[in-house]
Amino acid sequence: MCGIVGYIGPDRAAPILIEGLRKLEYRGYDSAGLAVHDGRALELIRAVGKLDNLSRAIAGRKLEGTMGIGHTRWATHGRPSEPNAHPHLAGDVAVVHNGIIENHLELKRELERDGVRFQSDTDTEIVAHLINRAVAGGAALLDAVRSALGRTRGAYALAVASSKEPDRIVVAKNASPLVIGLADGATLCGSDIPALLAHTRKMLFMEDNELAELTRDGVRLETLAGERVKRAPRHIDWSPVQAEKGGYKHFMLKEIFEQPRAIEDTLRGRILLAEGDLVDAEFGLDPETARGIERVYFIACGTSYHAALAGRHWIEQLARVPAQCELASEVRHREPVFTSKDLVVAVSQSGETADTLAALKTAREQGARTLALANVVDSAIPRAAHGALYTHAGPEIGVASTKCFTTQLAAMLLLAVYIGRRRGSLSVEKGRQILQALVELPNEMRSTLERKDSVWEVARRWQHADHMLFLGRGLGFPIALEGALKLKEISYAHAEGYAAGEMKHGPIALIDEHMPVVVVMPHDAHYEKTLGNLQEVRARDGRVIAIATDGDEEAKKLAEHVLYVPNVPDAVMPLVTVLPLQLLAYYIADLKGTDVDQPRNLAKTVTVE
Ligand code: AGP
Repeated sequence: MCGIVGYIGPDRAAPILIEGLRKLEYRGYDSAGLAVHDGRALELIRAVGKLDNLSRAIAGRKLEGTMGIGHTRWATHGRPSEPNAHPHLAGDVAVVHNGIIENHLELKRELERDGVRFQSDTDTEIVAHLINRAVAGGAALLDAVRSALGRTRGAYALAVASSKEPDRIVVAKNASPLVIGLADGATLCGSDIPALLAHTRKMLFMEDNELAELTRDGVRLETLAGERVKRAPRHIDWSPVQAEKGGYKHFMLKEIFEQPRAIEDTLRGRILLAEGDLVDAEFGLDPETARGIERVYFIACGTSYHAALAGRHWIEQLARVPAQCELASEVRHREPVFTSKDLVVAVSQSGETADTLAALKTAREQGARTLALANVVDSAIPRAAHGALYTHAGPEIGVASTKCFTTQLAAMLLLAVYIGRRRGSLSVEKGRQILQALVELPNEMRSTLERKDSVWEVARRWQHADHMLFLGRGLGFPIALEGALKLKEISYAHAEGYAAGEMKHGPIALIDEHMPVVVVMPHDAHYEKTLGNLQEVRARDGRVIAIATDGDEEAKKLAEHVLYVPNVPDAVMPLVTVLPLQLLAYYIADLKGTDVDQPRNLAKTVTVE
């Protein structure tokens, strides 16, 4: 996720911007840049890769200016490259941006008709040109930014500088974070508190649809509509480490709570709700291919494999195409058969997993159409595939995947709708219902996460359990697998996920009064049968922790603990039922005192076989 820093004050801006950007490195990035006003014009320096590359590019240049803006870019539109790195310059104006401009394609066409030649593939450059067009027409920078934002839809945190106005930076916010820091004779802005802590603890938090003008004397805050806003700054007393985790104890916990926002970002700009349909350009798969495929074949590892199991379910149910799901480490060492009528979807948050990459290459060599479903733009798997469908979870630091899993689920559900609509197997009305459920999902996830205290109580009760069984059916099965994986990864307890219907074929032998059994039993088509499995566990004195839908009295009667989730439509239910399981694993691990973010023996990106 991108990072923004801005500085206007008495000191040289460049080193302050670089240090601020270093504090935002945890957000992840693939290129960086800054623009500093040298008293005459804006000087622009950008570099691909780590901040050290930017520092090297700056070394030897004078850069005495005391006003500037800086950026670390985490690619969404366009690969990581110097032209795509921020700031983007258009005439007199330099812009850094965090977020996604949804209507960038139509604005780009309009600007091209006006003779604009674009230097990058980014949506941000469009904003720079819109602002510059207003500045060239005589508008002051603040008004120019306001008028440009009147044309855009989407999420943004922006910092804008103009060579014509060396004594101000204009910033704006909608849906992406932006904080203003007030110091003596200097004003700063940043995507997060740590970028500013070295200079001030007096912070002003911008709200959505606000604009601000930063000068050396302070800040003037307004709404996008032009009304003056008076808001008192807050004193921040966090330690720098706490600040990078946004006040959360671990990155994993922060990422669990970021999930509603991550889903919003993954859906943004893709949905055509009225048509019950999706935007073609967003799927890495042209409509004709989607119509012609005869099989969808998912390949993945670990948590991504669990997401792919749900993907298989949705592809069969909504697109009515035969679907298969395989562990990449298995399929690559068999002699798999792929055909030109196969769509092979390689699912990987990192986009670098060696087994998944190798299996994808095999499929492509055999003539299959390949699609990468990844979180990291331009990583190896998207580069090796014909097309890419990106999740927009932002960087995930905790080794245990959480927000990447739920955004993979959301992207797969979109993919099933996309294929289903193009093949005519999914009606407009049904497509609309599913997309509506997805649009409403982030708020349902927020309300589920607010119930964290009841999960903590269960964690406290079972923190010493050495074994735990997780059961589920239908879409509850991948969630049971994922709940078990999360627990074993970070708490080192032995946990197994099982299809509930398989219990009587073996695992039932394990059940006794010492065995906690988590039963994922939302009120869906499989409810009655899963309830039967719960009763089988109870009949053998097993201790049941049920994940059930609000209002389920039966679960309350039979289970020792019930973790309720809101009653959302079946299609999106797994994105809700997984939340208490992520929290359960987290709280048990934290109570045990394990290294939650970097569990032993595990790596975030597995580039070895
Ligand atoms: C998830 O919590 C794990 N750390 C692990 O199973 C992971 O999902 C797996 O290694 C696959 O990674 P990928 O999504 O980056 O391909």
